[in-house]
Amino acid sequence: MPDVHLIDHPLVQHKLTLMRRKDASTNSFRRLVGEISMLMAYEVLRDMPTQEIDVETPLEHTTGHVIDGKKLVFVSILRAGTGILDGMLEVVPGARVGHVGLYRDPKTLVAVEYYFKMPGDLDERDVVVVDPMLATGHSAIAAVDRLKECRPKSIKFVCLLTCPEGIAAMRAAHPDVPIYTAAIDRCLDEHGYILPGLGDAGDRIFGTK
Ligand code: URA
Repeated sequence: MPDVHLIDHPLVQHKLTLMRRKDASTNSFRRLVGEISMLMAYEVLRDMPTQEIDVETPLEHTTGHVIDGKKLVFVSILRAGTGILDGMLEVVPGARVGHVGLYRDPKTLVAVEYYFKMPGDLDERDVVVVDPMLATGHSAIAAVDRLKECRPKSIKFVCLLTCPEGIAAMRAAHPDVPIYTAAIDRCLDEHGYILPGLGDAGDRIFGTK
């Protein structure tokens, strides 16, 4: 599939499988979201620009490469994106953070925006949008639609789980945005949940059900 990156590293798959278990506690689910997100960051940020700097080791002078975290913006789709955001910030603590607040209308499943706050100068920054579940694609598409108005340098989309319907919708609306995921599940149910999935990611991260 064009520009869909399935991150099948054994550590990522291991953590995802533990998260799927219905008896995983809120504590363990939240910890696993953080850990899997740190691991996924490796793949998502593989092509991040670096700059060469001088370094004095205890023995001699050399050069090395560092990233400029400030050039990177993690955009969390509220509320479930927060889980991934926390993990990604562990590995790139200098990154900037944006938030998009969207809720799913339970009848139409359409995404309605209630909050949008981004760092300035997005045209100089690479954006990584995070949301655990790419299901109908409504939230992801609405978030990227809105972000594109700010003309960021680039946009990537990261989720833990998706399904053919979510990928198709996102591909149709935003073919230029690569998708990174730990799994592509079978399908959506009639309520817009991914099957077999892991349930409601927000409720499981925050223990609200
Ligand atoms: N959002 C979730 O939290 N879970 C799904 O399965 C689909 C959308």
